[in-house]
Amino acid sequence: MSFWRCFGAVSVLKHGETCRQVVQLPRRWKKMKKKWGAIQTQRKVEPSFHALRHFDENYGLQFGDAWPTIRLGLLSQQKYGVLLNNYSIVEETEEFLRKLGAEEFVQPAAGELAKMMEDTWSSEDVTDWSTESSDEESQNLDNLDVSQCPKDADQNLEDRLGQMSTVEKSREPGTQSQSDQKSSWEEKYIVMPGYEAKMELLMSSDAGRYKGLDSAQAVPEIDARHVQRPLKVSQHLKCFVFRSGSVERFPPSKLDSGGLFLQYYTMDAASILPVIALDVGPGDLVLDMCAAPGGKTLAIMQTMLAGGVVANEPETARRRRLLNVLRSYTGFHWQRSEELRFTAEDGRQWGEMEPDTYDKVLVDVPCTTDRLAVTNNDNSIFAVRRTSERWGLPKLQTELLCAGLKAVKPGGDVVYSTCSLSQQQNDAVVESALYHCQAETDMEVVVVELSPLAQCLGHVFKFCDRAKHGQLVLPNLNSNFGPMYFCKLCRLR
Ligand SMILES: C[S@@+](CC[C@H](N)C(=O)[O-])C[C@H]1O[C@@H](n2cnc3c(N)ncnc32)[C@H](O)[C@@H]1O
Repeated sequence: MSFWRCFGAVSVLKHGETCRQVVQLPRRWKKMKKKWGAIQTQRKVEPSFHALRHFDENYGLQFGDAWPTIRLGLLSQQKYGVLLNNYSIVEETEEFLRKLGAEEFVQPAAGELAKMMEDTWSSEDVTDWSTESSDEESQNLDNLDVSQCPKDADQNLEDRLGQMSTVEKSREPGTQSQSDQKSSWEEKYIVMPGYEAKMELLMSSDAGRYKGLDSAQAVPEIDARHVQRPLKVSQHLKCFVFRSGSVERFPPSKLDSGGLFLQYYTMDAASILPVIALDVGPGDLVLDMCAAPGGKTLAIMQTMLAGGVVANEPETARRRRLLNVLRSYTGFHWQRSEELRFTAEDGRQWGEMEPDTYDKVLVDVPCTTDRLAVTNNDNSIFAVRRTSERWGLPKLQTELLCAGLKAVKPGGDVVYSTCSLSQQQNDAVVESALYHCQAETDMEVVVVELSPLAQCLGHVFKFCDRAKHGQLVLPNLNSNFGPMYFCKLCRLR
């Protein structure tokens, strides 16, 4: 008998077992060893592998035949763009970037967008996408000093944007009156806790567990009103990329010849899209609710238009990164003049802390960071220990978006964004927040159409034609940016 068997026999006998049980001990030990081995093997699954398996299961259903191409993009080398730093010596930086062969894409798109809008509306107009809106709806718009778009302008836009209007028609809320809309909302969302549970269930759906569940069906329909509004882009906002198909990379940013500021900020070029959609105007007070590491705060500052920016980040280490980015690129210029404020709040409290305060709010929420999740195992949101955090994401995202909607002034805009492909973290969160506004507050919120912007940038980014309320940039081998979802909401009341 080996030492361990003797030891086992003695210790078991000590606890009053019979000799027969002792003989069975090695067999039991073998079983336990096998079970423990299985647990160990399970533990060894890397979070990136788990993430990919999860995506295959969910996005395979969400994107159908398009998923293998998106998947390939997600797993291949990401493409970057660079944001021009207006605090550096701009001419010198622009010349350097053009010599590298990079092209600026924001200003040409801004020109195209302006022309498109000019042909269709006067700059003050807001247009409801419903072809026949109710009196009540018109009144809501009138109270906010926005004029109804003439019918022929609607027609004109449809002619100009042929393909786009087809997509829009399918999104039209129809001709329901406000009260009809409310009752249908109530009907559909009467069991809201169930809806939340369903979202959590979807978030938790690991490979094989919910096979056959169509995630598109799982998100309930909501009659969200879409409006079309002119979008102005600051002439200072510039981002350079290498042409489509190129895999060239930008060298690390250097100090300009003045020796004070870095010349450009390297980022996923799709990250600039939520900031373009935010449409920062002269003197606007802007809240960046989830700001670190700071790419989008920096882009907001590069518009050179905002009257004040509040950059919020609750995590200490990430806030340090945010401060470093803003110091290296702007020298804290705005902090000295008190136009840039840093805070460390839980964004969910903003509705209570500063209601009806900001002109623009950016809610760039924590999400599953899909590209990072399949390539990096460090502190992954797909690590077993972060499972409940991951399951709770849609709830957190909805709460942050609702807080943003409360913090913005009536008439102001909120842009919601994620770097995930997940319908449950994108359109479903927007719908959940719209539902909350409708059912629990007296706010009136509409979705602002961003399809004209997507149309003007279709040569740079691959946009998904299935996103319902916002725009979604899909990873793609030719222009491997994203994923990036962004949706613009206007708080009318
Ligand atoms: C996607 S990142 C933001 C990226 C940033 N906007 C950028 O472009 O560089 C989301 C950020 O939200 C922060 N965050 C997490 N929970 C939050 C909360 N309750 N309120 C505000 N921010 C939160 C995270 O720490 C993280 O830095």
